[in-house]
Amino acid sequence: MTNTQLFNTISKRKSIRKYTQTPLTDEVLTKVKEYANNARPLDASIGYAFSYISEEHVKNLLPIKAPHYICLFSEEKEGYLMNAGYLLQQIDLYLSANHLGSCWLGMAKLSKDIPTMKNGMKFVIMLAFGNTEERVHRTDASEFRRKSIDAISSISSAEELLEPVRLAPSASNSQPWFFSGDMNEITVSREKLNFIKAPLYGKMNQIDIGIALCHLMLSLEHQGKTGIVDFNKNTAPNGYEFMVKVKVKNA
Ligand SMILES: Cc1cc2nc3c(=O)[nH]c(=O)nc-3n(C[C@H](O)[C@H](O)[C@H](O)COP(=O)(O)O)c2cc1C
Repeated sequence: MTNTQLFNTISKRKSIRKYTQTPLTDEVLTKVKEYANNARPLDASIGYAFSYISEEHVKNLLPIKAPHYICLFSEEKEGYLMNAGYLLQQIDLYLSANHLGSCWLGMAKLSKDIPTMKNGMKFVIMLAFGNTEERVHRTDASEFRRKSIDAISSISSAEELLEPVRLAPSASNSQPWFFSGDMNEITVSREKLNFIKAPLYGKMNQIDIGIALCHLMLSLEHQGKTGIVDFNKNTAPNGYEFMVKVKVKNA
């Protein structure tokens, strides 16, 4: 699977919530695991691990019954939620590119028989995946319900670069991201939450930023550029919190 194939999947992917319960073949599952093991982290200093579980080990108020779930465990270092989003979004795109369904499950927990800690790493979030009888892909971009580019960016002439980022999935489709600066140095920020929303979405929307960064890096690569992330705290527009700066280089 090339990054070009992942990039081309961005404009088609969607969450799948109905699955065929037959497990994937060992061959397909091995390929998913191989891909996951080779996913690129956003911050290589943060330790993480994947594990694969079946439905009886998932606790979810609104269950999404799938034959497989991939769980991410991570060290709780600064930026680990963004890193989690960045890693698992590569897998979400990989699954969709291979005509498999997937869905982020922010609400799902591990059942009591599965420890939430693994080698000093904490369970962060999971994705459901498997075969589906539904259409795996959108056939038309108008099927995306997303904010406009103007609502998520103040960078001039960034429409082409940011269109694939605009289409990124987010928890409750909240799209908490904002892009400012210029085409050489992009500041990525997230919406500040009020005290009602903060307990509910404070963690989730950091994962969302990691997802958007995954799409941003693929979009930069598509334009023959690379992005170098700088986590040093910086200023953000009013109403937003600084997350990361992406320095853009010609590849
Ligand atoms: C971090 C995160 C958590 C999510 N949690 C859930 C969830 O618990 N249940 C669910 O049905 N969908 C969940 N979603 C899926 C979103 O609702 C979905 O991505 C969004 O509405 C956009 O739709 P799309 O993925 O079809 O483009 C989650 C998405 C993200 C990114």
